[in-house]
Amino acid sequence: MGSEGRGKAPVVAIVGATGAVGVEMLGCLERRHFPLAELRLYASARSAGKTLNFRGAPLSVRELTESSFDGVNIALFSAGSGPSKQFAPVAVRAGAVVIDNSSAFRMDPNVPLVVPEINPQAAREHRGIVANPNCTAIISITPLWPIHQRNRIVRLQISSYQAASGAGAAAMEELLESTRAYLEGRSYTPRVLPHPYAFNLFSHNAKVDPVSGYNDEEIKVAQEAAKIFGDSQIRISATCVRVPVLRAHSVSITFECERPITPEEVRTLVGAAPGVKLVDDRERNYFPMPQDASGQDAILAGRIRRDVSDPSGRSIALFVAGDQLLKGAALNAVQIAEGL
Ligand SMILES: NC(=O)c1ccc[n+]([C@@H]2O[C@H](COP(=O)([O-])OP(=O)(O)OC[C@H]3O[C@@H](n4cnc5c(N)ncnc54)[C@H](OP(=O)(O)O)[C@@H]3O)[C@@H](O)[C@H]2O)c1
Repeated sequence: MGSEGRGKAPVVAIVGATGAVGVEMLGCLERRHFPLAELRLYASARSAGKTLNFRGAPLSVRELTESSFDGVNIALFSAGSGPSKQFAPVAVRAGAVVIDNSSAFRMDPNVPLVVPEINPQAAREHRGIVANPNCTAIISITPLWPIHQRNRIVRLQISSYQAASGAGAAAMEELLESTRAYLEGRSYTPRVLPHPYAFNLFSHNAKVDPVSGYNDEEIKVAQEAAKIFGDSQIRISATCVRVPVLRAHSVSITFECERPITPEEVRTLVGAAPGVKLVDDRERNYFPMPQDASGQDAILAGRIRRDVSDPSGRSIALFVAGDQLLKGAALNAVQIAEGL
């Protein structure tokens, strides 16, 4: 593999290369012509010997071990919290910068949590690990950042409609399989997600806190959004729901600003937000849909309207859809790597 670009091209490792996010990481590195001296692919022993195509040639997947990071400059981790906790410190000791997709380090005060469109400068303060935020958090708050900078958002309520892909490749397969079984009148026992998925929806499969009633996904979204915005005063509540969509999360958002704000102002700010595309056609009743967002780098935002339940004129409702395997995970991680 030849090196491109300015300076010395890095050796990059993808940990979890065979997963839903890992495969997209290969795609992002390829599409964005990321300069590489070498790309190494790692997964569990189950996948050792498999090949994945990269820049027109097959690349072998190797089993992740303690010596996988010798000579690696950037390690993109996407194999779950357990492997991240075990192997990210190994990678850092070997001299690599880790960009971690799991939730293992996100709320660690010594680890920057980065969305390049919002807080790219935070990545430069890393001590070896940069965390990639929760996908629903990224998709919800990227369109809001220009608003927050002009007229501080003091309160945020979100309701998510989360796709199977957010739970990994096996959950996508479960949605397809259970739908087939349903249509053919066969019984199907879920193996990956806790409830029947075909023609159904359910509260997010993350663990529920028995005291507050919020699940881990909802808690992550609220805590991470505040950390990324660098604003501990923002009040956030979330309801996260798994819907039978294969790919791309959608989110209904209502926010309240410090001062009155109009839908027109919000439309202008969201329309100019980096990484966001306005889809807001009232005449055709055409708004963000997961089907349109799938495979797109941009987060789609629309249905921008006054929240009529707040007579002060400070609250706005909108709807967004974003490919969480891309902007919610792989693309965001590769953008962080580009920044480094
Ligand atoms: N899916 C999303 O939208 C999304 C968004 C943001 C963050 N994330 C995070 O990204 C991570 C991966 O998610 P995913 O959806 O891609 O999951 P996935 O489709 O289940 O893929 C998991 C990957 O991790 C590998 N792996 C599992 N255990 C391992 C081990 N002990 N050692 C080495 N490799 C191991 C798997 O390898 P094998 O093929 O060998 O099993 C596979 O490549 C998770 O931490 C998840 O929370 C996911």
